[in-house]
Amino acid sequence: MRALSKHLTQKWHEAFMRLSQRVLAPFGRETSSSLCLPLSGECQSGKVYLVGAGSGDVELLTLKAARLLMQADAVVYDRLVGDDVLALIPRGTERYYVGKARGHHSVPQAEIGALMVKLANAGKSVVRLKGGDPTIFGRLGEELAALAAAHVPAAIVPGITAASAAAAYMGIPLTDRGHAQQLRFVTAQLCREDGTPDWASLARKDETLVFYMGLSKVDAICHGLRQAGLPDDWPIMLVANASQPEQQSLVGTLADMPEQLAAKPLPSPCLILVGSVVSMVPASPSASLAGIIKTVDPA
Ligand SMILES: C[S@@+](CC[C@H](N)C(=O)[O-])C[C@H]1O[C@@H](n2cnc3c(N)ncnc32)[C@H](O)[C@@H]1O
Repeated sequence: MRALSKHLTQKWHEAFMRLSQRVLAPFGRETSSSLCLPLSGECQSGKVYLVGAGSGDVELLTLKAARLLMQADAVVYDRLVGDDVLALIPRGTERYYVGKARGHHSVPQAEIGALMVKLANAGKSVVRLKGGDPTIFGRLGEELAALAAAHVPAAIVPGITAASAAAAYMGIPLTDRGHAQQLRFVTAQLCREDGTPDWASLARKDETLVFYMGLSKVDAICHGLRQAGLPDDWPIMLVANASQPEQQSLVGTLADMPEQLAAKPLPSPCLILVGSVVSMVPASPSASLAGIIKTVDPA
């Protein structure tokens, strides 16, 4: 046990030095002793860590997530995990891609659960890496249930969800005392033909709505909210690839957004924010809010 612990500590030290080099080398800084961060702990054998990878910018990864990634024996990861985050995984770590494209499940959810159980029961420490925050629209419940049913210990490590990243990189708060006293995360999957969101409850002026998985439902969202009473000029914003170099956005109103999107389609993943906080997006001096494609670099 002691020898194993020593081995893990050594492995972590080596991994941490690799991370330090990646962080400091571009600045010509010393890598051996100058970076002193409060990192501690070990990745336990036979345990699964359900870890948030953040929204794409590798610097938004938590220190705990980085440590676990570099210590784990196996990493099971999703489509929305960024390449820079994956680059932190040491060579020699087992990797399993279980990502899903829209409408296409490359690996069924039950198989993902079975894979994690198998790896943990083989005595491996496992990181289950999920885009954004694992507790938000990440099918975490099913995975926790599969692990619990097999008596495999699990821990959750939060990450930066797309809503936080989109707001930050567009330069606005998600709530502002003058604009929104409530914040709601909504899955746009509810807007399918066979499911209808409660538009009346969503059409509030004191709230920010954030729709996940809604790029193909923009029409339905704008229509539903207008029908339920929000004004035509109510602010809405679409942010694709939030926090990544290729971030793109559209800022407009419930009335004009479907047309804007048709004229300038955005890629996936894309988030939809509705609410008067959107009016706080800093306007470029030479452009009106409607119709601009805007990227704010907070760095
Ligand atoms: C299955 S949900 C996973 C959400 C994730 N757990 C989170 O906390 O961000 C996938 C949806 O999240 C949103 N999303 C994830 N990453 C994004 C990003 N970098 N930019 C914009 N939207 C993103 C999109 O709406 C996408 O369809």
